[in-house]
This record gives sequence, C-alpha cells and structure tokens, in this order.
Amino acid sequence: MTFSPVSHHQDGALYINPQALANALPYFEYINGTLYFDGVSTHTLKEIYGTPLYAYSQRALLANYQSYTDAFDAIDHQICYAVKANSNLAILKTLAKAGAGFDIVSKGELARVLQVTDAKKVVYSGVGKTADDIEYALKADIHCFNVEAISELDTINEVAGRQNQIARISLRINPDVDAKTHPYISTGMKDNKFGISHEQAVAAYMYAHNLPNLKIVGIDCHIGSQLLDTDGFSDALDKLIELIDTLTDKGIKLQHIDLGGGLGVRYIDENPVSVNQVATVLLPRLKQLGLKLYLEPGRSLVANAGVLLTTVDVLKPTEFKNFAIVDASMSELIRPALYESQMAIIPAKLSRDTAKTWDVVGTVCESSDFLGKDRILSLQVGDTLVITGAGAYGFSMACNYNTRPRPCEVMVNHGTHRLIRKREALDDLWKDELI
Ligand code: LLP
Repeated sequence: MTFSPVSHHQDGALYINPQALANALPYFEYINGTLYFDGVSTHTLKEIYGTPLYAYSQRALLANYQSYTDAFDAIDHQICYAVKANSNLAILKTLAKAGAGFDIVSKGELARVLQVTDAKKVVYSGVGKTADDIEYALKADIHCFNVEAISELDTINEVAGRQNQIARISLRINPDVDAKTHPYISTGMKDNKFGISHEQAVAAYMYAHNLPNLKIVGIDCHIGSQLLDTDGFSDALDKLIELIDTLTDKGIKLQHIDLGGGLGVRYIDENPVSVNQVATVLLPRLKQLGLKLYLEPGRSLVANAGVLLTTVDVLKPTEFKNFAIVDASMSELIRPALYESQMAIIPAKLSRDTAKTWDVVGTVCESSDFLGKDRILSLQVGDTLVITGAGAYGFSMACNYNTRPRPCEVMVNHGTHRLIRKREALDDLWKDELI
C-alpha cells in the first residue's frame, strides 16, 4: 500500500505529513525529530549560515544526472544542463565534471559556464540573440546555436564571416504541441514567441544551407517545462522526424536532434513520469533515426536536490486567516507568486503540538507574496521551515525587491557542508549606484 504524504482537507487546506514526504524524497530524513538533508542537520545549517538559506545536495544532483545518462545509455547522447534553473558555479562545476554540457540563453550564462569549463558542449538557445552575444559565443567556440528566427541566421552568418569562422547551427522548431503545463512555461505552441514554425522550417533550412558561414548540424525544440507525461515529448519527436525526412530528401543531413528539457518533478503530489519512462517511449524512434541526441534538462536535475530554509518571525492569527510571516519571501522564491505553484513546506523539527491552518507569507509589501497558502502546520515563532523542490528556479529567479539581500547558498554532500555563495551584504545592494 502506498502512503500519500499529502491530504487535502475539505476546506481546501493542505496537510503534508513531513515524515512521509521525507521518506518519499531521497536524501531527506528525520532523525530524532530533526530534518537532515543529505546527512546534514537543518538545525546545523541554520546555526552556521542563518536563514533564509538555499541548500543543495551534491549527491542528489549527481544521482539525477546519472538517471539521464543511464536512461539514454543505448544511444549516443549529450545532456546539456539548462543553466537558467540554477546557475551557481559550484552546481555548474559539479555537472561539468560529471560530463554535462550546458544549454544557455544569454551571454551572462555563457560567461558563467566559462568560469568552470570550456564551451565545447554548449548549445545556445534564446529568442533575441544580438550580434554582440553571437560574437562572444563564436569566440568561445560553442558547440551550436539553437536558432529561433530566420533573421538570426543572417546575423550569425554575418558575424561569423567577420570573424572568419563557421558557425554551427540548429533550428529550434516550434512544433505546435500542447505541453499541458502552466501557460507561462509552455513554449511549443504556435502562439508562443519561441522557435521557427513547423511550416516555415524547411524554407529556413534551405535558406541557412545557402549561407556561406553556417554549418547546419541539428534540429531542436523545447515545448515547455514541468511536463508530467510523455505525450508532449513524443508528439514533438514525431513532428521533428517528419521534418528530418523532408530535409534528407532535399539533401540536408543533420548530426543531432535536441529535444530540449521540460521533464517535471513532484513538488507535492504530482506524479511525473520518470526519465526512464521518457526514454522507453522515445528510444525506439531515436535508434532508428541514428542521430546523436541532445537533451536540455534543468528542473529535473536540480529542483529536488535543493531546499530553502526559512525562519518563522511572526505569527499573526486573524479572524479570517492565520499568517505565518517568515524571513523568505517572493524576492527569494517567486514561483508561488508568479505561477501559483504549490511547493511543499515542512518543519525542520517535528512537533506534537496542535496544528492550525496557516498562510506562509514573506514580508514583501504585496499580497502576492506568499510561499504557501492554507498549510496545516504546528508553528511557533523561531521555528524553521523547509521548502522542498527549491533547487530549480529558486535562487536563479531571486531579486532584491524591497531592498532585500539575496540569501546564501550551501552545498551539502553526504554529511558535509560548504558555502557556495555568500549572503549578500547590505552595502552590496547599492554598490553600483551613483548619488
Ligand atoms: N531548454 C530551453 C530552451 C528552455 O527554455 C528551458 C526552460 C529548458 C531547456 C529547461 O527546462 P526544464 O527542464 O527546467 O523544464 N521559471 C519557470 C520555468 C521556466 C522554464 C524556462 N525554460 C518555473 O519556475 O517553473
């Protein structure tokens, strides 16, 4: 019998059984009532580094990466981690050492990658690359540009010509498939700004074929994020194969196919398919195709390898709602405010006291500043709460709104911990301003 870590109460409140959730998440366990994350007590993390604090498990990160390389072992492949999910240099270095390449979307992300490795395994996605971005990427000698517009072909061709280089390119196709995810993170439908439409694709390839400073190497797509089933991946692959067949007939030969990222994770009670299930569905067609496979996962590598620790500063019961005001906010973790995404919030220390229904909120002056609504928790001022699934699109989307220093980041590994980014100091916040 499976025991769900979550129950929904009639009034809409959400009770997350912390012990059961910890059992469901690898590298989390309660020892004598205290939550340990990859062998490190959350109490110790708070004592040493303070809160709010992001912590990532190196073991979990590497295990997630390994699940991809194992699942696609049967074919030639390259996993390019989507840097935007979490761009801390220690995360990038860990993945680079394990063999990952990188999917980048800006010059800044490429500059980060170059701090830890070379650009040989970098693919460059992004809808609005400038001549300056392209020049920088060509100088770094990235593996390939994932081109998102026909005019971008001209710009790349021109810059490459000026630099006496040949640019390797792939066209990002918008396959017009429904990723069945939140509209803000769906990218592969025809009304999204991303990629070149399926209809224009062949003409775009023919155009690229005739540009002297380009070498066509691939085809790619990315249809959205937090996909929970295999349908979107499968439909997109079919659309790409159809195009590849047409291109072959026209004498255009590709070396790789890149299916983007997008595999979802369990935040609370979602049931995403596993990497293995995706591989099982795609591999027969990919084997037949015989092209090298590129994938660009972000969230599924880092989300559940990370947590955000926060302290309850104020408890404010009212006639209508009980508010638990914590020292993290939408500035540190914007996902609940931006996508109304539900992320699990569990106590760092188990309590037997009576629980109540709380909205867990930050101190930012906006009513969208919530981290979790209607959560059944037993709370006291000073308690530490742990938001799980926070390794992806957590720190990388953090900002300084309300003049809040961004939190520190810590890597934990098998009972050890080390600081991988200092907490911002107050005077960091205006150091570049001129009076
Ligand atoms: N490749 C491309 C071209 C992308 O645009 C993205 C994500 C990925 C790969 C990685 O997708 P993943 O495997 O992480 O799903 N901030 C949102 C997610 C935005 C995703 C944007 N693109 C969130 O917090 O849910």
